[in-house]
Amino acid sequence: MDRIKKLCERLTRCNVFADVGCDHGLCTLYMLENELCDSAIISDISEKSLAKAEKLLKKYIDGGICRPVCCDGLGAAGEADLVLIAGLGGENMISMMDRDGIPRNFVLQPMHSVPRVREYLLENGASITRDDVFESGGKFYFTVCGTRQGGSDSYSEACIKYGKGDVNGDLGRYLRLELAKKYAYLGGNAGGESRRRILRDIRLIEGVLSGETE
Ligand SMILES: C[S@@+](CC[C@H](N)C(=O)[O-])C[C@H]1O[C@@H](n2cnc3c(N)ncnc32)[C@H](O)[C@@H]1O
Repeated sequence: MDRIKKLCERLTRCNVFADVGCDHGLCTLYMLENELCDSAIISDISEKSLAKAEKLLKKYIDGGICRPVCCDGLGAAGEADLVLIAGLGGENMISMMDRDGIPRNFVLQPMHSVPRVREYLLENGASITRDDVFESGGKFYFTVCGTRQGGSDSYSEACIKYGKGDVNGDLGRYLRLELAKKYAYLGGNAGGESRRRILRDIRLIEGVLSGETE
């Protein structure tokens, strides 16, 4: 629940909001209850998942301001000016955007492959306007927010890997934990290519923690 609350803090006012892979539909409930959108589209590839959101949002669906669609990817989100895709794998998000286009404005919360998502967005002309991490229930969740166009963001190797969060906040906590894990791997049997990769990550993390920008 705390993850949803923190995720929703990233959502901004829009006309048509789309919650792709909506499952429970809680983020759409937040948008509609707080009058942060005029209408909403909830979509999910699974009928069973979508049914949960339909139950939660019945009042809005009956009132004609929330439209449920069972479909794969961004097919139903074309008219939305803000699209949320959260809780899915990064590679799945990339496949959707590759097939259906990058949404006009987006909030993405990939469960993994976040660096690949950043690379994909930047390589395809999108602009990343907020790229940070939050902690919830002992886990860390990266969110990547931005717009389809206007991309000229400068992203170092460290930013591609860890985003642009606040090192004095949750990003710092995440990186210190990662650093401890990397040193533990090094103390184990890591050799060859794997050792070189870990050393490189350590250098990157220590650079970010010490405030290096490149
Ligand atoms: C773990 S839930 C995340 C729910 C919610 N967005 C959240 O962040 O809590 C992932 C949902 O994405 C749906 N999903 C997975 N792949 C999808 C796709 N290609 N298109 C639409 N929905 C998809 C699943 O059916 C599932 O309901």
